[in-house]
This record gives sequence, C-alpha cells and structure tokens, in this order.
Amino acid sequence: MAEEKNDLMEKIVSLCKRRGFVFPGSDIYGGLANSWDFGPYGSQLKKNIKDHWWKFFVEQRDDMVGLDASIIMNPEVWKASGHTENFTDPLVECKKCHHRHRADQIDVTKGCPDCKGELSEARPFNGMLRTFLGPIQDEGAQVYLRPETAQAMFVDFVQIQQTSRKKLPFGVAQIGKAFRNEITPGNFIFRTREFEQMEIEYFFNPAKTKWEEVFAVWQKAMEEWMMTVGIDTAKTHIVDIPDGDRAHYSKRTIDFEFEYPFGQKELFGLAYRGDYDLEQHEKVSGQELRYLDSETNEKVRPHVIEPSLGVERGMLAIILSAFEEQKLEGDDVRTVLHLKPAIAPVQVAVFPLMKNKPELVERAKEVYSALKKDFRVEFDDNGNVGKRYRRQDEIGTPYCVTVDFDSLEDGAVTVRDRDTMEQTRVKTEELKKYFENNF
Ligand code: GAP
Repeated sequence: MAEEKNDLMEKIVSLCKRRGFVFPGSDIYGGLANSWDFGPYGSQLKKNIKDHWWKFFVEQRDDMVGLDASIIMNPEVWKASGHTENFTDPLVECKKCHHRHRADQIDVTKGCPDCKGELSEARPFNGMLRTFLGPIQDEGAQVYLRPETAQAMFVDFVQIQQTSRKKLPFGVAQIGKAFRNEITPGNFIFRTREFEQMEIEYFFNPAKTKWEEVFAVWQKAMEEWMMTVGIDTAKTHIVDIPDGDRAHYSKRTIDFEFEYPFGQKELFGLAYRGDYDLEQHEKVSGQELRYLDSETNEKVRPHVIEPSLGVERGMLAIILSAFEEQKLEGDDVRTVLHLKPAIAPVQVAVFPLMKNKPELVERAKEVYSALKKDFRVEFDDNGNVGKRYRRQDEIGTPYCVTVDFDSLEDGAVTVRDRDTMEQTRVKTEELKKYFENNF
C-alpha cells in the first residue's frame, strides 16, 4: 500500500516534469533546496486556479475587495504581529549526521530518523526569511520576506475601508508570494520555502455578528470552492486544531487536510483571529485601526475570520484528484487528468487529421483562430491523432477537435470528449455554443 502511494507520487512528479507543469528550480546547477519552477502548462494551471479563486471570492461578491501589497514590509509589522517572537518551530539536530529535523514532526525518542543518531535538545527556530535593504548589511537594514500575506490587510485596514466605502461585514482578499525558512521542505510542491497564498481577512463587528456564524459560512464557502476546482472531497478531512497547537493569534482554527500519497496533511486553513492583529498594530504603530459605525456612531475594532489557502498545495491536491490511469485493451494504459474546464491549461485542442494536407491545415487553423477568442486553445499537428489525444489527455484538455476531409464538405468537425472518449460531429459555427454549454 505504502509502495503504491510512493509510486503514485513518482508518477505525478514525472508527469508534471514530462508535460511541462513543474520542473526542479535551477536544474542545470543541481537545483536549490526543493524549489520548483512552473512550466508552460503549470504556470497556466496555477494562474487559472488563482483567477478562479479571485472570481469566486472577490468579483462575484458585493462584500469583498482586493489588495496587492509589498512582500517586504516595515520590520515593526512582524514585531507587532508576534512573528518575530512566536513564528518558530522546534529544531533538533542529529549529533552524528548533522541532519536537522522539526521536533514536532518526528518521534524524538527514536533518535535521528535518518541514522538513529542522538538528537540535540530542541531549540526554537524562527521561520522568517531575512534579507537586507540597501547597500549596508547591518542590523538596521535587516528586513523580512513576509511569511504570510495577511498582515498588509490589517496594516492597510483603514485605507482599504475608507477608499472602498465598505460597511462591516466585509472582506479583503490578497494573492501573493510568502516565504518561510522551513527546516524540512519536501514532498514536491507541498512544503517549499517560497510559495503563494490566497488569503482573506473577513472583518465583522463582534457586537452585531457572532463569530461562530461567520466561521461556519466561510467553512461552507471554502468547501464549495474546493468542489468547483475539482478537489476530491472524499479525500478531504476537517481537523479542529486543539489549544496549544494553534498559531499564536488564533482563537479557533480548522485545517482542511487532504489525503496526499505521503499522508493526510494540511491543505488549507480557516482561523478566527479575533482582533489580535488590529489591536497589536494599534499598540505598536500608535495609529487607530477602527471602523466608524454610522448607526451607533461608535468606533469599532473589527474581528476577523481568515480563510487561508496555499496555491501550490491546492494545485497538488487538484492534480492528485484529477489523475487517473485507465487500463484499456491489452497492456495499454491511458493517463488522464480530469481537470475541470474552468482551470484546465488548455480547454480545446484543434487538429487537422493529417498535417501534409494543406486544405485540412488551413481549415483547422481557421477553427483554432475563431475559438481562441473565447477559450484557451492549442493547435497540434504533431504525430497521429491517437498520439495527440494521449498528450492532451495527460495535460487535462477536456475537448479535442479534429478537422477531416468530411469537414471540407459538411462544415462539421469531430469533437472528442476527454472523459468519455465519445466523438460527436458539431457544425463549426456551433462550436462556441457547444463548449459554452459544456464548460
Ligand atoms: N495567514 C495564516 C497562515 O499563513 P498557515 O496555516 O501558516 O496560515 C496558510 O498557512 C496556508 O499556506 C496553508 O494552509 C498552506 O496551504 C500554505 N502553506 C503554508 N506553509 C507552506 C509551505 N511551506 N509550502 C507551501 N504551502 C504552504
């Protein structure tokens, strides 16, 4: 069973590399500490996931606005937020092989997981990545790359509220890079030192709205979103994080965990941060971070519910949920990614039946150009049609369109469905409507 799971992870990593989803970063120099680059299809898939999230949680709602803040913030932000002091993991080092581990992720009583050597005492290790601003690299120039996108949404709260004129309750959404100096990055794109977050801070007046209700609404919204992007909900589990294990700012956290081949682990999180952050920033900055309630004329310090989603973890869960190896005749195996059309890197592939027949190529290019105005379309005339289908199946293209000799006579094309492999004749002028109905 464990072997089968390792095998599955190997297949996913290999498919991602082979088909241009994810490559090892700095590969020609031997890579760099579990860093990954997202290739032509991977960057498109990642973008589609983020666009879908933004549309779902920002554009289609009346109570949400966006923010795109700097990665490097004033270091006072991290003092106020508690990250300088509390954003730590317990680090142990093996006295024999000198490998480092997180004490909370291994059984320390069994010694070093790599060589069984004796482990050092655990010491807190701060997970923020440091750099320097300007030419002089002294303590005064030291800054951090943000470990979460969240803080700017607190720091900018008043400007966001005043310029958007939103009334409580309302939320702020942000997508962007975050950095953590993880002790043990690994498991492909699951745990890296550089990653992207899609976060929301949903502000509400605790005197008017119960936090438990807001929390439940956001839990449901996250579940709905996960379904619409094709995360297998049968493999998703909700885990209530007990007191003592939660982040320093949280009064309640649930993790959405996913059954990855390497174990059931955190996918996304939902936290009730109370007014911890706004209060801390008020104290340290000396600025008021409040909302003027026009009904009561009271200045309110809102509380927040925070849905926080990692883009790469989401992408991995989506790929794992979509992956299937279908046994066909004999030893033939068809590898398919059943990606939802909304996020598939390519939505329609267009082929001429034969590449050496100019009349077919010309008509196929016309079909391709027309569809490209509305969908993500790829033109492919490499190899034979069977090979093109297999390639498109592996990158998750929902439909392939073939222009054949009959097309020149009847103005119709063959549309092949990735999931059922069924083929349908559709008039070229009806293709747009056909896909709109099926996407
Ligand atoms: N603002 C709250 C916050 O940052 P978190 O649980 O530490 O909470 C949120 O992180 C999400 O970010 C996680 O659920 C996960 O999806 C993603 N994430 C965290 N650390 C990560 C890492 N090292 N690599 C990839 N994704 C990570």
